[in-house]
Amino acid sequence: MILAIESSCDESALALFDPARGLVRELISSQAAEHEKYGGVVPELASRMHLSALPLLLADFRDELPQVTQLAVTRGPGLLPCLSMGVTMARSLSLALKLPLVGVNHLRAHVHSPFIAVHGQHPAGFAVARAALLPHLGIVISGGNSLLVKLDEDLRITVIARTVDDAAGEAFDKGAKLLGLPYPGGALIEQHAQRGDVKKYPFPRGIPEKADLRMSFSGLKTALRYQLEKMSDAELAVALPDLCASYQEAIISQLAAKMAAALDLSTYKSVGLSGGVANNRTLRARLTAVAQQRGLPMLIAEPKHCGDNAGMIAFAAWAEAGLPTSAAAVPAASLTIDQV
Ligand code: KG4
Repeated sequence: MILAIESSCDESALALFDPARGLVRELISSQAAEHEKYGGVVPELASRMHLSALPLLLADFRDELPQVTQLAVTRGPGLLPCLSMGVTMARSLSLALKLPLVGVNHLRAHVHSPFIAVHGQHPAGFAVARAALLPHLGIVISGGNSLLVKLDEDLRITVIARTVDDAAGEAFDKGAKLLGLPYPGGALIEQHAQRGDVKKYPFPRGIPEKADLRMSFSGLKTALRYQLEKMSDAELAVALPDLCASYQEAIISQLAAKMAAALDLSTYKSVGLSGGVANNRTLRARLTAVAQQRGLPMLIAEPKHCGDNAGMIAFAAWAEAGLPTSAAAVPAASLTIDQV
């Protein structure tokens, strides 16, 4: 059984994964309400909150600790003071309990997270079930990253495209801030968008050229700012649903177009969607439609595995177990996705 610790940003989380049964227990303590007051994550505050939350979460796993055979911890990327808290606890546990410890790349864990449900359906036959879904196009869309990757038969991960400026989640959050919505505003934009007209404001689609898989979201944010400069507060209040719907549509249609273009360029047996923005129901539906048009299975991480969580860290430690690894459990704030 693998016990995993996640503390890369503003969630403290622990999870226990049993290869024979799946994720048996997942606990998470979110600091979001605290950071909302400051309009973003304050690293110093976040690390102190991890320091108090992680031991409390661990106490809840006391009964299962004797069955744990392996420890895993997020080693990066993330905020260094936050990563250090999880890594320090993991190394202390490893010494005290004499258990092996592996450092997990948080971004790679996002790529593997849509496969947690595949394992849930076939715990014993997972290797065969996964092999039938590779090569796989992974779409990781979060607050800090927008990545299209190829997960190969040998579990090598190659970046196919990334954003040249803001991440999609950042575009949601910065747009929400301009609209006067609290941080992080992605889910609120989705809520208001439900009552709005996607065609009301023709916001630009970043890098529309089909052959260019790179993404771009910063021009969109600027276009929203120019639009808002022309409006009074009263007009903004009335137009909020249309602004949110049109803004969200610009992000989602760009992602759907890039996914379609990536599928045209290479052969894949499945597509996966993960990361915090994968919570967005319109995005899930739109990308699923693109996959269905091509007869490809669309694997979407469960909502509890979209944002930061320890379940995907435990699962990735197991799913990548056969890979040659240099994964020392030391914090690596700027780790890139190709580093196991
Ligand atoms: O970065 P991330 O994967 O990890 C966490 O810190 O949990 O997810 C956060 C990002 C934020 O940018 C947030 O606004 C966005 O995911 N997000 C959404 C939705 N839910 C979360 N964006 C659009 N629609 C949503 N429903």
